[in-house]
Amino acid sequence: MSDFTHLLSPLQIGRSGKALEIRNRVLVSAHVPGFAENNKPGAAYIAYHRRYAAEGVGLQITGGTPVHKSGLLSLAPDGLWNLDDSIIPGYTELAQAVHAEGGRILAQLAHSGGTVLIDQPGTVAWSASSVRSAITG
Ligand SMILES: Cc1cc2nc3c(=O)[nH]c(=O)nc-3n(C[C@H](O)[C@H](O)[C@H](O)COP(=O)(O)O)c2cc1C
Repeated sequence: MSDFTHLLSPLQIGRSGKALEIRNRVLVSAHVPGFAENNKPGAAYIAYHRRYAAEGVGLQITGGTPVHKSGLLSLAPDGLWNLDDSIIPGYTELAQAVHAEGGRILAQLAHSGGTVLIDQPGTVAWSASSVRSAITG
């Protein structure tokens, strides 16, 4: 542990006054655990992130959460979608659960745009570029 002198010391993200204080530098990086219900945080999803906070993780990042229907990462109901405000009560409950354990959590906003993997007939993938992805087409 002596090689990691800053690991357990606090970190500020952002400017002072509006800075987010993280209690340590232990981070759970972005991933979709597959526990969302109807694309919202439910009891299982919240319990998953609460547990990391209770175990001492400073910051957690949700898996990519799409901001538009043409940039979905999956059609499955087990990932979070930010397509309308109905997600807000679940996010509030999720944040409160993590904060209650001293942790912090960020939502990773995602739009797959021109690299969208999902075939949705009739839906045009909004993108910053009209060039098709060389990887997904
Ligand atoms: C199942 C799984 C899902 C992931 N989902 C995301 C994601 O939604 N967004 C993201 O930026 N990274 C995602 N990642 C990448 C991880 O956050 C991390 O950067 C990567 O796994 C490398 O870290 P590791 O070597 O500790 O696994 C995912 C990784 C895994 C294994």
